[in-house]
Amino acid sequence: MTIAAVLAGGSGTRMGTSVPKQFLEIENIPVIIRSINAFLHNENVDACIVSVAADYVDYTGKLIEKHIDTHKDIFVIKGGATRGDTLFGVLEFMKEKGMSEDSIVLTHDAVRPFINDRIIDENIDAAKKYGACNTCIPAVDTILVSEDGSFISNVPDRSTLFHAQTPQSFNAEKLYELIRKMPPDDFRNLTDGCSVFSYYGEKVFLVKGETYNIKITYPDDIITAGNIIRQYYN
Ligand code: CTP
Repeated sequence: MTIAAVLAGGSGTRMGTSVPKQFLEIENIPVIIRSINAFLHNENVDACIVSVAADYVDYTGKLIEKHIDTHKDIFVIKGGATRGDTLFGVLEFMKEKGMSEDSIVLTHDAVRPFINDRIIDENIDAAKKYGACNTCIPAVDTILVSEDGSFISNVPDRSTLFHAQTPQSFNAEKLYELIRKMPPDDFRNLTDGCSVFSYYGEKVFLVKGETYNIKITYPDDIITAGNIIRQYYN
C-alpha cells in the first residue's frame, strides 16, 4: 500500500487569518483540497489520510465531499499538538488499519499544493529503494549561521545546502519503529520523519523538488500561489 498523508493540523499563526491557511481558497479551491487531489490523481497512490486539528475534522469531511470525486479511500483523522505528533498519529492510524513491511507513506505539508506526478513518483521509488527520502531544491541564497541572531557565526559552503520541501516519504513500518524507540524528549524536538532517520544515522535520499513547490506561510504567498496556478495549472 502507498499512502499519502496530508498533514494539516497546524494553526498558521504567521498567515494571521482567522481560518488556518490550509483552508483558504486560492482561485476558488481550498489549499488543502489542491494538495489532497494532487495525490489522489496519481495512479501509484492508493489512499489518502488527512490529519487536521480536532475542530476541523467535520469541516474537512464536508470540504472533501464538496470538492473531491474519487474511488480511492480518504480518511480524515485528528492531528496532534506538534507536527511530529500529527505525523505519529498518522502512523498509528496506518498501524491500526494494517501496515505491512512494504507499506510506503508520503508525508506532505497540506500547505504545499503544487506538487506534481514526477515528485510523487520519485518519492515512491526512493522510499521503496532507500527507506527514506526528502524532496528538496539547492539553496540559491548564501545561508548565514548566527548563534546569537546579531553576528555571523559561520557561512557554510552553499554548494552543500538545500531547501527542504515535502513530500518526505518512508517505509512506514521502519519510521514507526524508529519513532517508537526514540526517547520522547528527543522526539519532541523533531518535526519530521527525515530528522528521525538522521537521528539514527540512517540514510535519507534527496529527491529533486521544484521552485514552485512553495510552502504557503505568509500573506504574500497567497499572491504567489495565485500566480503559480495561473501559470502552471490553468
Ligand atoms: N502541521 C500539522 N500539525 C501541527 C503543526 C503543523 O499537521 N501540529 C502541518 C501544517 O498544517 C502544515 C505543515 O505541518 O501543513 C507545515 O506547518 P507550518 O506551516 O510550518 O506550521 P503552521 O502551524 O501551520 O503555521 P505557523 O508556524 O505559521 O503557525
